[in-house]
Amino acid sequence: MSHSSTPQKATARRSKALKGTARVPGDKSISHRSVMFGGVASGETRITGLLEGEDVMRTAEALRAMGATIRKAGGEWVVNGTGNGALLEPQAPLDFGNAGTGSRLTMGLVGAYDMETTFIGDASLSKRPMGRVLDPLRQMGVQVLKAAPGDRMPITLRGSRSAAPIAYRVPMASAQVKSAVLLAGLNTPGVTTVIEPVMTRDHTEKMLKGFGANIEVETDRDGVRHIRIEGQGKLTGRLVAVPGDPSSAAFPLVAALIVPGSDITIENVLMNPTRTGLIATLLEMGGSIEFLNRRDAGGEEVADLRVRSSELKGVSVPSARAPSMIDEYPVLAVAASFAEGDTVMNGLEELRVKESDRLSAVANGLKANGVECTEGRDMLSVRGRPGGKGLGGGVVETHLDHRIAMAFLVMGLAAEKPVAIDDATMIATSFPEFIALMRGLGAEIDWQAREEVKQ
Ligand code: S3P
Repeated sequence: MSHSSTPQKATARRSKALKGTARVPGDKSISHRSVMFGGVASGETRITGLLEGEDVMRTAEALRAMGATIRKAGGEWVVNGTGNGALLEPQAPLDFGNAGTGSRLTMGLVGAYDMETTFIGDASLSKRPMGRVLDPLRQMGVQVLKAAPGDRMPITLRGSRSAAPIAYRVPMASAQVKSAVLLAGLNTPGVTTVIEPVMTRDHTEKMLKGFGANIEVETDRDGVRHIRIEGQGKLTGRLVAVPGDPSSAAFPLVAALIVPGSDITIENVLMNPTRTGLIATLLEMGGSIEFLNRRDAGGEEVADLRVRSSELKGVSVPSARAPSMIDEYPVLAVAASFAEGDTVMNGLEELRVKESDRLSAVANGLKANGVECTEGRDMLSVRGRPGGKGLGGGVVETHLDHRIAMAFLVMGLAAEKPVAIDDATMIATSFPEFIALMRGLGAEIDWQAREEVKQ
């Protein structure tokens, strides 16, 4: 499925108890980084468990266009990188499709190269603000040769002959911005420092160290992280085992909590504490989630999650938790719709600049399905209806946003009336096997695959 394909409606209906064991695809954040870091490292990187979603494939295509070799061999992906500092100027614009992480991290990666690179994307990506990455890059000497108004794509960058290292305090909680600056630092002489007042996912720091970068993290007395990377060092290819994506596991997890009688196990889910805010919140709401077989998998903790349907209670979700569950608010809002009482979520300003304005997309989807909710500038409050009584019956506008699509299909599995979404095609950006996996657990989701429609 590609972004230019015609929209495909999908409908989810109230389902019988979900049962069985499932394995979600590889973590999207780690998948992007393993392809990217493998692509600039010397020698061979072998990746198991890579997410083969469209977003990651776009990043792989971009790295290929700059000289890396990336191929699938049996069950694993093999990357032969150019060596740090040796990427080649791409001959055509790099098309990132829907992928914010791929494009923003790659802007950092190539920003300090003395070459011209153009970034393009789909309608959703072209609306997203890129100034947050371009601002620090400009400070490092990168020229923005072209950009649409408001620093949006299409964007053309030209790195300076010799980039200047900076110390940059990240002004919003964003792992993408942190990562872009660190990656620009990779090819900059001297030490580039990122100051991170609010900790976000730490995959870039951890993985760059694994690839041999000289990178240090120090947390000061106020909890502010200082990340220093020495530029122009050697990166060496390695083995990467990508754990299951907690942001994808979130969908079957919430589905099992709200569909009565359910009992499922989701295997091999990443338990990095910068990613588990949703689980913490669902536990507080009374969700039955057991961690089985907690173990280390290539430097990250993973676990199998046993999830049983539960009577949920509304809670207040603190803003401080937002970075560790930033992609999970749409599906949390769905869980909250079935809880007793109100769930109040604060600190949501970043949701406005995701694949869609997720705060309003969620609020509108809830309202279309009879959920009482209040949308504030950076907050959302949801009044639940235990048992899903009276809920459903709406068609949700997904605005080219995979997580809006999946969250509302989950809602339909427990609502009294079916829930339809206007377009399921974007699900392929992060979780291509979502519908098949959910059906395998017993979910009733109707969807006409494109192949079927053509006939
Ligand atoms: C990501 C960071 C987050 C998240 C995105 C993946 C990453 O974005 O929403 O899905 O891999 O670094 P922000 O950095 O904009 O918060």
